[in-house]
Amino acid sequence: MAKTKTAFFCSDCGYESPKWVGKCPSCGAWNTFTEEVIQRETSSSSFVSLAGSRKAHLVSEIKTEQQPRIDTNDKELNRVLGGGLIPGSIILLGGEPGIGKSTLMLQIALQIQGKTLLYTSGEESEQQIYLRAERLGLTKTQCYILTETNIASIFEQAQVLKPDIIVVDSIQTLYSDNIDSTAGSLSQIKECAAQLQRYAKDTSTAVFIIGHITKDGSLAGPKILEHVVDAVLQFEGDSNYEYRILRAAKNRFGATGELGIYSMLNTGLKGVDNPSEILLSQRDEALSGTAISATMEGLRPLMIEVQALVGKSSYAVPQRSSTGFDLRRLNMLIAVLEKRCGFRLAGQDVFLNIAGGLRVSDPAIDLAVVAAVISSGKDIVFPHKNCFAAEVGLTGEIRPVQRVEQRISEAGKLGFERIFISQYCRLQGKASKDIEVIRVRNLFDLMKKL
Ligand code: TYD
Ligand code: MG
Repeated sequence: MAKTKTAFFCSDCGYESPKWVGKCPSCGAWNTFTEEVIQRETSSSSFVSLAGSRKAHLVSEIKTEQQPRIDTNDKELNRVLGGGLIPGSIILLGGEPGIGKSTLMLQIALQIQGKTLLYTSGEESEQQIYLRAERLGLTKTQCYILTETNIASIFEQAQVLKPDIIVVDSIQTLYSDNIDSTAGSLSQIKECAAQLQRYAKDTSTAVFIIGHITKDGSLAGPKILEHVVDAVLQFEGDSNYEYRILRAAKNRFGATGELGIYSMLNTGLKGVDNPSEILLSQRDEALSGTAISATMEGLRPLMIEVQALVGKSSYAVPQRSSTGFDLRRLNMLIAVLEKRCGFRLAGQDVFLNIAGGLRVSDPAIDLAVVAAVISSGKDIVFPHKNCFAAEVGLTGEIRPVQRVEQRISEAGKLGFERIFISQYCRLQGKASKDIEVIRVRNLFDLMKKL
């Protein structure tokens, strides 16, 4: 009998060590090492490569069989993938439980036309999947459903059905007989992902893998999966809200800034064509503490409402809290406001919220954050046809951001009357006539012009 081999893995980053260590040498986390059995049999993969042994080729000799991208029949997903699904690519879809990953993948699987699909699930029974398909109104399609958690059986079915696309509902439920540890452990995830990757590349099958996210927001076993797959998509949003965001965190075949926006309805996920219009709260009068930012997510302009509440704190240490915006960035902006404009916020609680449950990383939202804080702090109401697009620097200067023309034209289209941008923006071409462009140099200047 072969000797049982074990190793220790960091549960955060997947670092492998022959001995237990207290602190991970790779990611620095404490007390994350767990022992796992890694005994392997002679054949390390239950999928036997069809391609035979490999030979090195000169770049000029490589034959490219340009396979066209597969249209997923979903505008948002196509955009996030960079124009469609590449055959042979392997894509990881991550998200919190209950956010709608299974719904999204089943919907895509049932919608794609002219392709054979295999949807495998280790989380739900056939009946449950059927009920979901019925709810989506998509039961009359060519998609095979397999409820299986053993990866060898999945490959067996795949070799019979020869699907163009495979969906694996949750890598955490898969297991391979080659490895002795339980499903969901790091060594199982690693092995199953590697086998799926080999299968995808050798048979030109596109594979979607669903993965759960840990409490702190990273994919379980993240580092291991991230470099195995071609694209990492994150499905996020607040489950109390209707909107869900699909974004690419890594994409070998396209840009990563792209964003897909869906709304979760009774009948499944529906792509949102005009996000700006729904993200702005529908009201006619302006209120203090709100400001609209003209942001860009990928190549798409998005108008987003920022809400701030500044009030006297009843604690010795005032509270600073932010939803949808980096808290450290908020603290920095508050410090800049205090230092450069003499705007006193010590002893005041500051709460910040991005409307619609969105998380924004575009630096152009800074100016709207500052404006909302000023508006709430001084309890003054800005005209609600104002919007903002600029970054704020540590010296209080207002810095230019990319693609200002596009932001201005989106704001103009949506009926805004004024947009505040940096003094130093160079506009190419003529700006829209419907909207007044106000240039500001620094925060002082902004306060004056507001
Ligand atoms: P699900 O896809 O099961 O989440 P995940 O696979 O990410 O864990 O989504 C579950 C949620 O979606 C559930 O709370 C109900 C909701 N939902 C709808 O609102 N409409 C629908 O048509 C469907 C199928 C689900
Ligand atoms: Mg699920």
